[in-house]
Amino acid sequence: MRIVLVGPPGAGKGTQAAFLAKNLSIPHISTGDLFRANISKGTDLGKQAKAYMDAGNLVPDEVTIGMARDRMAQPDAQGGFLLDGFPRNVSQAEALDAALASDGVKLDAVLDLEVPEDEVVKRIAGRRICRNDSAHVFHVTYSAPKTEGVCDVCGGDLYQRDDDSEETVRKRLEVYHTQTEPIIDHYRAQGLLVTISALGKVDEVTERAMEALQTDRAAQA
Ligand code: AP5
Repeated sequence: MRIVLVGPPGAGKGTQAAFLAKNLSIPHISTGDLFRANISKGTDLGKQAKAYMDAGNLVPDEVTIGMARDRMAQPDAQGGFLLDGFPRNVSQAEALDAALASDGVKLDAVLDLEVPEDEVVKRIAGRRICRNDSAHVFHVTYSAPKTEGVCDVCGGDLYQRDDDSEETVRKRLEVYHTQTEPIIDHYRAQGLLVTISALGKVDEVTERAMEALQTDRAAQA
């Protein structure tokens, strides 16, 4: 399956993507994680992206689209993928449409995670991420690690992202409303949109998402 995950910062896209990708046996491709990996390796791409990310702005399309396309061209993504954080504006969505059309494939669904803004702010404020693997995500109250500051999965240090400060989160939410929300209409018009509530426990949301994707698939068959 080829799926796009959309939702505001802190909606739980990364958290759900880890479970959905495993259930569906497809790779989880997060442009945010790709940028953060480049930043920690000190690459030119990482240097270009960092200032935009720290300010809560989108990294320019010239950088982002090429990076996302390169990742989607990898062998493990030929049978499908779960995109998290890409596309993030209408021009990225159009670039993705064109790339998929030229490969003779199409998206199966765009899963939209709906969460009220006050919940998103609470989720981001308490988020802690493992330095060894950004897929290991915790929350100081909702899914606390057994030992404070230590990853339950691999023992790595947990840290708070630079762009999770209150001021930057406000900016990221504004960018989401002005630049990313319009892609919801773009995909609704293509009949691809599947919207679910992302409130509730992590496993409840995963179950809801899997059910909604299966119902959508059955309706399209
Ligand atoms: P990115 O890394 O994509 O960040 P984001 O979209 O802002 O989303 P987040 O990672 O903050 O949240 P999430 O929805 O994944 O939530 P999570 O699962 O962690 O992008 C960062 C930056 O990179 C952008 O601002 C931009 O600068 C740049 N960028 C990336 N892609 C780009 C693009 N395409 N174009 C241009 N620029 C781009 O969950 C959050 C917390 O909540 C966690 O602590 C988790 O444990 C907890 N939680 C999750 N689910 C639940 C639940 N059900 N109940 C309780 N707690 C929960």
